[in-house]
Amino acid sequence: MKPQSQPDLHAWWMPFTANRAFKQAPRLLARARGMEYFTPDGRRVLDGAAGLWCVNAGHGREEIAAAVTRQLEAMDYAPSFQMGHAPGFELATEVAALLPPGLEHVFFTNSGSEAVDTALKIALAYHRCRGDAARTRLIGRERAYHGVGFGGISVGGMVANRRMWAASMLPGVDHLRHTHDPARNAFARGQPAHGAEFADDLERLLALHDASTIAAVIVEPIAGSTGVLVPPKGYLERLRAICDAHGILLIFDEVITGFGRTGSPFAAQEFGVTPDIVTMAKGLTNGCIPMGAVAVTRSIHDAFMQGPPGAIELFHGYTYSAHPVACAAGLATLDIYRREGLLTRAKALSGMWEDAVQGLRGRPHVIDTRNYGLIAGIELEPIAGKPGARAFEVYLKCFERGLLIRTTGDTIALSPPLIIEPAHIEEIFDTLARAL
Ligand SMILES: Cc1ncc(COP(=O)(O)O)c(C=O)c1O
Repeated sequence: MKPQSQPDLHAWWMPFTANRAFKQAPRLLARARGMEYFTPDGRRVLDGAAGLWCVNAGHGREEIAAAVTRQLEAMDYAPSFQMGHAPGFELATEVAALLPPGLEHVFFTNSGSEAVDTALKIALAYHRCRGDAARTRLIGRERAYHGVGFGGISVGGMVANRRMWAASMLPGVDHLRHTHDPARNAFARGQPAHGAEFADDLERLLALHDASTIAAVIVEPIAGSTGVLVPPKGYLERLRAICDAHGILLIFDEVITGFGRTGSPFAAQEFGVTPDIVTMAKGLTNGCIPMGAVAVTRSIHDAFMQGPPGAIELFHGYTYSAHPVACAAGLATLDIYRREGLLTRAKALSGMWEDAVQGLRGRPHVIDTRNYGLIAGIELEPIAGKPGARAFEVYLKCFERGLLIRTTGDTIALSPPLIIEPAHIEEIFDTLARAL
């Protein structure tokens, strides 16, 4: 393929990127198909990260492109404030059908961050609608990532994402302790055996703040961005039980675990724990058009439907909520997931995946491996005084060798498209092993 000339790199201030280093040695992608990216000069790069945990059905899906084109031609944009359109209602119905029974209403956003902030706002407003306005506190967790809105960073637990804005966080937020416990759980296969009792940390916060002040607890069923933390057996169940006992809403942030990543449509089904609110994004449209959503139970929704008819029930929404083109992409994506069995495919491959992950045990610098469904976290011994540098070096080596991975701190996170075949799994772990 003919090399393309490099664009001017000056103006784009890139997100979550070492901009100066990147612009000295840029890594550009130009095309994508199936399991693969291609650089501008035609070099193949196997996608071990589904882009950013979002391209679950693989790249370049023609069905989605066709649906998007049809929608653009039929109606490019429509407001969703006091107006509606069929693709919005159809997608909401289909998303609700994928969720555990009871989660039957869906509010659309444009990203995971917006979904999280929307979920937190709905949780706070719900209690107020019910006349329980004292429930103003939100509980997040250490080592959580809930996007980059002020709500998301307030309940989040990643210090680098918080310290610059320390004085601007939401008030009344507290954090559960995280569940990472390598002393007892290193190299666990699937859910770690130890740590259900970490959920009891919620009891500590209830004793401190009083349960009557707490609106909601938000957790990622599997924390992704802080290095793939799989919930210990019994942990989510215990959180659910404590929330139930005290009238607290439980929110699962399923932005990465939704849409088949764990081997079930959502982690809620995989772990058999039904939250009151679910946030999602990424795989909803196979990553190709920005979109997020928040699903809530009927009783949360109905608590808002009480005022005089004709009154707006929730003063919240985005110009692009349920953008018709995003809805078309979402409908086509869900159709592919259904036809190709992708929402449960991770289960069939997870045994091979787990063996491959465990096969890295004993490789240089590997101090822990964690896996679930088609997710892996491979934690490396940090270079003294340079946190994150070891994993980033591996990231660069993998990219040179034709593999895209993701790193967070010194953990390598893998989350390939769910169309992955056994030969790709071998290739990912061979490349990674050589890079290590
Ligand atoms: C659990 C979780 N929540 C929220 C987000 C934020 O999503 P977005 O980047 O679409 O705003 C992410 C992104 O990775 C995520 O992993």
